[in-house]
Formats: sequence, C-alpha cells, structure tokens
Amino acid sequence: MTKIKTPVIILNVKAYSESMGDKGLALAKACEEVTEESGITTVICPQQFDLGFIAHQTDVPCFAQHIDLKDVGGATGWALPEAAKAAGAAGTLINHAEHRLKLADIDALITRSRALGLTSVLCTNNIQVSAAGAALNPDMIAIEPPELIGTGVPVSKADPDIVTGSLQRVKEINKDVVVLCGAGISTGEDVKAAIELGTAGVLLASGVVKATDPKAVLLDLVSGI
Ligand code: G3P
Repeated sequence: MTKIKTPVIILNVKAYSESMGDKGLALAKACEEVTEESGITTVICPQQFDLGFIAHQTDVPCFAQHIDLKDVGGATGWALPEAAKAAGAAGTLINHAEHRLKLADIDALITRSRALGLTSVLCTNNIQVSAAGAALNPDMIAIEPPELIGTGVPVSKADPDIVTGSLQRVKEINKDVVVLCGAGISTGEDVKAAIELGTAGVLLASGVVKATDPKAVLLDLVSGI
C-alpha cells in the first residue's frame, strides 16, 4: 500500500465540467507542482472515467471517488475496487455524502480495499457515524457535514465541534485512524483552522475545481499547514 504522508490535502474533483478529461489532468499537474514546491502531500480523486489516464501521467496519488461491492466478472458498468487498483489508484473514497452506502457494504469495501493495498477514506456526516466508522478500521475518516458541502463556508470554522467531537470519538475507538475534515474549505486559513482542531488534513472540491487559478488556491491551502 502507498503510505500517504500526512498532513494531506485531498482534492475530490467530483463530476464538475471543470474537471473532466484534460482539465482533470491539469488539476492533477497543479497538485503535483504544489507538492513539489511545498513538500506537502496532495492527493487527487479524478473523475471515474479519467482515473487511469491521469494516474499514468502524474506522481500525485490518485484515489477513486467511489467503489462498488460487486464481484469481478458480470458487473457491467460498476466501479470495481480491482479495476481502480489496475487503473493506478492508490486509494479510494468510500461513502461520500453524494454516494452513500449501506453499513455492511462499507465494512466489506474497507476490507477489500486493504486486501488490494488501496488506502480507504471513509466519509462521515456526523459524530455518531464517525464513531461507527472508526470501528470498521478504515485508514482515514473524513468528517463532512453535508449542509456545508459546496457552500464555501468552512467546517473548520463554522462547525468546529463536529470536527473535535469526531476526532475524540474516533481516537477513543481506533487510534490508528487518520482524521480529516471537509466541506466548504477553500483557503489556507480554513486549513490552518482544521489542523489546529487536530485533524491531519482536509478533503475539498469546489474551492479548487471552480477557481480561476486552481494552483494559486492550492498554494494558499498548503500555506495553512
Ligand atoms: O469531497 C469533498 C467535498 O464533499 C467537499 O466539497 O466543494 O465543499 O469542498 P466542497
């Protein structure tokens, strides 16, 4: 498994038009340059159709945005963990707020990711779900209150209690899980606040993907670490 060094900035490019195809590759290249210049780890979650071609052209670790609990073989159109690995993924998001899964499937997908050497980032929406998730032993948990996603209102400032509450419960249950936060993060100040709360980094999307100068935003983000 590629060990992801923390602190880390994970960029989920979602399904925005600004991140499709060659535009997604340009975002990965911006992450690569920012990591080279700052020494801070960045990770990109390309659009599913773009993961392979981006992973083969960048040194930045690429994570899948989602994987499905289907068996290799007759599973037309599903996103198999094994296919993500073969395409060059180093990890995967699981249970993103925009792609929720059942608890039993989350458990199985974390286990399968580990067997494949994929770093698992379990997304959670509140303190209780973060605590439940910690018992499933993912590599990372990213706490993201859904109501702040895409708003530009940073969780690290608007709802610090959900971050510290998640951190506390997760570490009580499983001290090995790396805790991140996300939703509304777009500046170095937001990242600084997240780190000061005790997280090991952030998961974000629109603040970078929709920016006129994504590299400038990424440089600002890493300056908060
Ligand atoms: O996966 C990251 C995410 O859901 C947060 O989105 O646009 O608020 O940074 P955004």
